[in-house]
This record gives sequence, structure tokens and C-alpha cells, in this order.
Amino acid sequence: MPQMNHWLAQADRPLIIGHRGASAHAPENTLAAFMLALEQGADGVELDVTRCATGELVVIHDDRVDRTTNGRGWVHKLSLAELRGLDAGRGERIPTLDEVIVATAAAPRPCLLNIEIKSVAISSDGLERQVVEVVRRHACEDRVLFSSFNPLTVRRLAQLAPDIPRAILYYHAMPIYLRRVWTASLIPHEFRHPDVGLITPAYVTKLKAQGKRVNTWTVNRRDDVIRVAESGVHGIIGDSPRLIREALGI
Ligand code: G3P
Ligand code: MG
Repeated sequence: MPQMNHWLAQADRPLIIGHRGASAHAPENTLAAFMLALEQGADGVELDVTRCATGELVVIHDDRVDRTTNGRGWVHKLSLAELRGLDAGRGERIPTLDEVIVATAAAPRPCLLNIEIKSVAISSDGLERQVVEVVRRHACEDRVLFSSFNPLTVRRLAQLAPDIPRAILYYHAMPIYLRRVWTASLIPHEFRHPDVGLITPAYVTKLKAQGKRVNTWTVNRRDDVIRVAESGVHGIIGDSPRLIREALGI
């Protein structure tokens, strides 16, 4: 019998999720940042996944390596070996998705993984299938939540892995017509991931009435943590799990 997904469990407080790990205190999207998030009391981490020139799944936010490493160039044009040679901050390396799954599997409590898939592909380029294969190979379906700004990615994930929950990402600066299209009922999903600027008690109540859970990002101010918690969100994604925990008084 399949295990219940930990993201779907009822909790008496919001989940605390480290955005790109504890990226306020360690280089973003590195193993150091993910481990630090857990040390700071996070329930899990958010990470950004894309594919490099040699086909491996790597964990990095931008299309290019320039901002977060000592290198230059497009991720999709660099081999894994080339990416490995870069310093992602304080001697950290760009990890693969495999490495993050393995490293977080050793945590004493199940480390929730919000795997955000960076894709603008309209027709499938196999990225979603590849991500699902990695998750299945590690048998970590019960701690994974997929998310994407690309509604077509979310739809493909629903077809490929209906058992793994999905979230649609959007933010307040997005034109309203895009937000409406992107949250269409044609895209099966359990979670909404609006940015912190969209959160009001009324909005969260409305989404809950539609049967959705709400995780919000990127929450880096104590007053915002309290505000979104009081609005009834399911999870809070921020750069400092410690700040979130302290603001929640736990
Ligand atoms: O998944 C929440 C957040 O990470 C989405 O925006 O640009 O930080 O990946 P971004
Ligand atoms: Mg992200």
C-alpha cells in the first residue's frame, strides 16, 4: 500500500520550508544550504531543478551560472563535469537532484522536498519524465511535492505521476489573465504557491474552499510570517527557516 505523502498530513502549525535551502545563511541550492535548513528546524526544503548539457538533473536557480558561481555560461550548454568544477559559494558545488535526495534521506525526520521544475517548454522535452524517474528510483515519492510556474509542466507531471502532489506557482506581478489561465481547472493540482504579496485571509479561505492547500514564498520578514500563518497557509517557504520558526514561536 502506498505511503501517505508527508506534504498532505494535517499539522497544527504551518510547515517550515527552506527556500533554496537556508539560503540566507549558506550558498543557495547547495547541500550545505539544505543541511543547514534542517539544522535550523525546517520541515523541508525547496530546490530548483533543470538539465545540463550532458543530460543530468542539476539543482540551480538561474539559466546561467554567473550569479551563483565563479563561472560563466548557460547551464544547458555546460556538461556536468564543467558544472562540477565551479564554486557555488564557500567551496560548495552545484548538486545533482540525486545528491540532494540522498543527502536529505539521512535526516532523522522525513525531509520534505519541494522540487520546483524550471521549464518554459510548451511541448514535452522529457524533463518531467526524467525528474519523476529519479524520484521513483529513490522511492522518495512520499516526501516530494512538485511545483512549476509552467502550467504545462504541472499538467505533464499529473499525467506521469498522479500519485505525487503538485503545485502551481504564481506571483502578484503576473498579469491577472495569466494567473487565471495558469490556475485553470484543467491542470490537476493539490497545492497553490502564490507569492507572499498575494496572501490575505480571504484569499486563503477561498482557495481552501476549492480544496487547495496553500504554501507561500518567499517569506523573509517576521511580520509576514505571522500574517501568512494567521491567514491559514499550509506552508511557509523562506530563506531562513530559523527566522520562520522563531516568528512562529516554536
Ligand atoms: O518555489 C518558490 C520560489 O522558489 C519560486 O520562485 O524564482 O525563487 O524559484 P524562484
Ligand atoms: Mg524556486
